[in-house]
Parts: sequence; structure tokens; C-alpha cells
Amino acid sequence: ENVPCSIEINGTKHTMKIDPRITLLDLLRERLHLTGTKKGCDYGQCGACTVHVDGQRVNSCLTLAVMNDGKKVTTIEGLANGSELHPMQAAFIKHDGFQCGYCTPGQIMSAVACIREGHADNEGEIREFMSGNICRCGAYPNIVAAIQEVKK
Ligand code: FES
Repeated sequence: ENVPCSIEINGTKHTMKIDPRITLLDLLRERLHLTGTKKGCDYGQCGACTVHVDGQRVNSCLTLAVMNDGKKVTTIEGLANGSELHPMQAAFIKHDGFQCGYCTPGQIMSAVACIREGHADNEGEIREFMSGNICRCGAYPNIVAAIQEVKK
């Protein structure tokens, strides 16, 4: 049976009835068509699905949508300020922080959290914080460079 749920997503409140078994990731992608958030593994191993919930980094494949009732979710679509890219998005472009791009939305959401949560003081700290975001293309050095630039 569907249950009522209200989540603020990228500044817009969505009040809906949802299947209590659906993950936040599937709600975003399948129901709200916010497909910037990617599904890689669907079990917490890759980081492609990373979003912010009340400002904290979360793997959206590991949380049921209903558990986010009353919370604020930010996805990659909500990061830019209108037509102006978020500084982290601009830094990823400048430093070639991606190749195929599939992991990039999750990388950027984690990268923003990395600085906000105070784990960007040196390369080791950044790599540790970012270790849950897998990049098959191996763009890690460029991702670290992008984070270090924004941290400055
Ligand atoms: Fe969520 Fe891989 S899809 S961690």
C-alpha cells in the first residue's frame, strides 16, 4: 500500500504517495525523472547515486524514500545557481575530472561534502573521504586537483 510522503528536492516540495519499498534513488530517477543521479551498483558500493540529505552525503540507493519524509534532498540538478555552475562543477571541467562521466554526479556531490565536512586539508584526507566513489576511468588525480582548487 502506498504511503504519504513529503520531501523537499532541490528547493521544491514534493508531496506524494509512494511505495514504501522504493529507494530514494529510484524515486528520484523513475518517478521524478531526475536522472542526473546515477545507479551503478544499487547496493552501496560505487557512490554513483550520491546525493545530499539535510546537507549530509548519502548513498541514495541505500535509503528508502519514505525514510526521507520531511527532509531536504539536493541532487546534482540542484547544485548550480541558475545558469551559473557550482564552483565544484566548474573545477571538474577545468581539471578534466572525468572521462566517461557516469560517476561524475556522485563524485561532485561527494566532493562538495568533502570540503563542507572539513576533510579536504590534504590529498590523503581527500582520497580517504572520496574512497566510496569509484571511477572506472581512473580520473582520481584530476578529481583530487579539482577539490584542492575549490578548497583554496
Ligand atoms: Fe548506490 Fe552504487 S548505486 S552506491
